[in-house]
This record gives sequence, C-alpha cells and structure tokens, in this order.
Amino acid sequence: MSANRPAVARLATDVRRIVARGLVSADTAQAVADLLSRRALGARDLLTEEERQGDPDGYASYVLYSHPDFSIAGVVWRPGQVTVIHDHVAWCAFGVLSGIEHETLYRLDGDRLVETREVDNLPGDSNGFAPPGDIHMVRNTSREVGVSVHVYGADLARLGSSVRRTYDLPVTTA
Ligand SMILES: [Fe+2]
Repeated sequence: MSANRPAVARLATDVRRIVARGLVSADTAQAVADLLSRRALGARDLLTEEERQGDPDGYASYVLYSHPDFSIAGVVWRPGQVTVIHDHVAWCAFGVLSGIEHETLYRLDGDRLVETREVDNLPGDSNGFAPPGDIHMVRNTSREVGVSVHVYGADLARLGSSVRRTYDLPVTTA
C-alpha cells in the first residue's frame, strides 16, 4: 500500500530513517514514539472525515501505509470501545490525537494473567514498546471519539493484523 496522503507520506519518510538505523526493537519503538510526540499530527491530517467517525461495531484500524519493515495505522475508537487482551507480532509506537487510550497491562503467569499497571494515554502522549512483555488491553474511556496513530514494525498489508495472540484467561491483580 502506498501513502497517498501527504501527512502519512512525510511520517513514513521519517519512520524509515529511524528503522534504517538498525536499532534493537525497543529502541526503535522509543525513537518512533519520540518522533510522534514531536510531530504536530492531527487526525484531520491522517484520516478522512468518514474514517474519523469510527465504527459502531467496534474500534476501527485503518492501515494508512505499509512496507516490509513497518506500517502506519490510524485507530478510531468511539467512547467505551475496547480491544480484547492481546500482544503483538512486533514493536509498536503510538501517539494519541484525541480521546483517552486507557491501557491495562498484564503479565502472563502460567495459565492466568496478572494485571500489572493501568495507564491513561492522553492527547499529545506517545509511547513505544516491543515484545515480549507487551500484553495489554486498550479502551477509550473518554466521552469523545478517540483517534491515535500507531506504527508497527511489521507489514500489516501482508499480515492483516498486529496481533500475535489474544488471551482469554483468568485475571488477577498484582
Ligand atoms: Fe495493542
């Protein structure tokens, strides 16, 4: 998939430069997160008005750019929409443009999950992470439509999804 949106093309150029440095995954994720925090990207720059409405059936992920080494997706969450508990095939960096991406993080302990942390990611926040230890669930806890940009170290056009595994296990708190 090629970038036919100028803001996406510019972001892809900068991400490509970071990926070309050949850092370990966690450092690439952090460098891309830093890039997203410096960039004054708005949802309007990345997504069409129709895409920014979201989907009543669940959060929507739009792959805006993909390449063998990384992909850029815009994710739109209506209030309350939530992912299942999952982890990822590769490093990920994200930046929040609107809404609140409330993240619950887990650690796998045998045949159960232990909830380790909760984080509110607010507009302007960005973060990066890399497997392993990347099990989480994300919910838009704000009353407005949430939009975020996610960059993954994988070719989503080929794989179809950044999810490695979903988890349906008993959860305990730490
Ligand atoms: Fe995720």
